[in-house]
Amino acid sequence: MTLRLYVPIDAGALAVGAEEVAAALRAAAARQNVAIDIVRNGSRGLYWLEPMVEAQTPAGRVAYGPVAPGDAESLLAAIRSGGAHRLHLGPTEDIPYLKRQTRLTFARCGVVDPRSLDDYRAYDGYKGLAQALSLGAEATVEQVVQSGLRGRGGAGFPTGIKWRTVAQTQSAQKYIVCNADEGDSGTFADRMIMEGDPFVLIEGMTIAAIAVGASRGYVYIRSEYPHAAATMEAAIAAARRGGCLGQRIAGSSFAFDMEVRVGAGAYVCGEETSLLDSLEGKRGLVRAKPPLPAHKGLFGQPTVINNVLSFASVPIIMEKGAAFYRDFGMGKSRGTMPIQLAGNVKYGGLFEAAFGMTLGELVDDVGGGTRSGRPVRAVQVGGPLGAYFPRALFDTPFDYEAFAAREGLIGHGGIVVFDDTVDMAKQARFALEFCAIESCGKCTPCRVGSTRGMEVIDRIIRNENRAANTALLEDLCHTLKFGSLCALGGFTPYPVMSALTHFPEDFGAPPRLQAAE
Ligand SMILES: Cc1cc2nc3c(=O)[nH]c(=O)nc-3n(C[C@H](O)[C@H](O)[C@H](O)COP(=O)(O)O)c2cc1C
Ligand code: SF4
Repeated sequence: MTLRLYVPIDAGALAVGAEEVAAALRAAAARQNVAIDIVRNGSRGLYWLEPMVEAQTPAGRVAYGPVAPGDAESLLAAIRSGGAHRLHLGPTEDIPYLKRQTRLTFARCGVVDPRSLDDYRAYDGYKGLAQALSLGAEATVEQVVQSGLRGRGGAGFPTGIKWRTVAQTQSAQKYIVCNADEGDSGTFADRMIMEGDPFVLIEGMTIAAIAVGASRGYVYIRSEYPHAAATMEAAIAAARRGGCLGQRIAGSSFAFDMEVRVGAGAYVCGEETSLLDSLEGKRGLVRAKPPLPAHKGLFGQPTVINNVLSFASVPIIMEKGAAFYRDFGMGKSRGTMPIQLAGNVKYGGLFEAAFGMTLGELVDDVGGGTRSGRPVRAVQVGGPLGAYFPRALFDTPFDYEAFAAREGLIGHGGIVVFDDTVDMAKQARFALEFCAIESCGKCTPCRVGSTRGMEVIDRIIRNENRAANTALLEDLCHTLKFGSLCALGGFTPYPVMSALTHFPEDFGAPPRLQAAE
């Protein structure tokens, strides 16, 4: 009997030796004279356990990790005999980190063979598309509106409303563009989907095309994601062969096809209008709005541009219905959010949960605190433009409005953890330096203000006219916030001001008394 093993092909697992582990298992199987079938799955997102190997057993999948090539011989013997092994983690689905999650968008990630359309179908793939085809375009848009899904790329704009605008704009040519630039620090959910369940993204984009009347799609992937780009290419080709892309999709009268485009490595090319310029072959420069991309987007045509996770959430919404999805979450944040725990954290990985868990639960409980074992001092939520939150704000629920009320943002769901050795003045300076390096240069507050801001922080750190320079920094942040054309300049004040407000002692001022500390 052939023994089926799963060894992730996800870039995060490959970075810690998954390829070598797969090779060692093959060699061990040859020595032990046992037939094995190694499926290269996506990651389950428990990165501290990667490379995590799973074995198919009559009772379901059993996990082992983190596996080194030198473990292959004993691991294979243990799996075959059903004996004990020091890396044994038990049934995969029972690992508490996984068991606590509500995996809707990531339901198949790590479960299926990402390059197999048959596997995708076997795990309920393309049921959402079938539903969209039977409901028709207008009702599909309505389902997405009713689901409460908001854009997962950062701005949190209602996806269905965007689709409705494109659907109602008359044009012979419309486009679907997927933003897979994923530039936020500590984020990797888009990459995981593209490497672990690419068909869900293809299905989501196809549903969008049918809903708004588009015939062509692009996935704009950052150049640092070669594995994701290769997996997407392979999945697109498989979808085409299987009649899920091209003319007469799934036997319907709809035609839709898509291709991958690789970026050239600019954070600002994740901003939607800059991305469109880049897709058109130009330098990525932010466009003034209006016109909205929904009216005049790619090549001047009406365009739906959404994040990977936004599109990837649509198939389950269509399959299970808007009410099912919107039942999860709190307030105006409906459904689930794939949260990414990164930085100095013990259990770094992907944790998909309904909106509403507090920051403290996520960092201390799910994340297990810092990897260094030192106290958590700050977390940056929402990428390089997100605010730094101290422990005193750990009661903030993961919800768009709750974070905004505390001058923060949840962005793309990345949480980067810092211990008590962090220097928050340096972090504030870094935010401005990042803005200076990544600025597209179109508007003055961002292009010039970011560099002036660094100079001001340097003077504060050197204790030169601290009070006057702190006031100047605040004034500069105000100008950036309200005078910038896009959120790169507009949100850079969040990390700067939050560092200054919550950690004044790092800028040489007396510490702030914080109730929860
Ligand atoms: C500087 C900057 C960088 C951005 N980077 C990304 C990115 O990497 N991925 C992404 O999906 N959205 C990014 N966005 C947000 C996009 O402009 C846009 O809101 C998003 O693609 C819309 O899709 P959604 O509604 O599905 O979130 C960025 C915005 C700014 C201002
Ligand atoms: S804020 Fe910065 S990145 Fe955005 S348009 Fe202005 S110069 Fe370009």
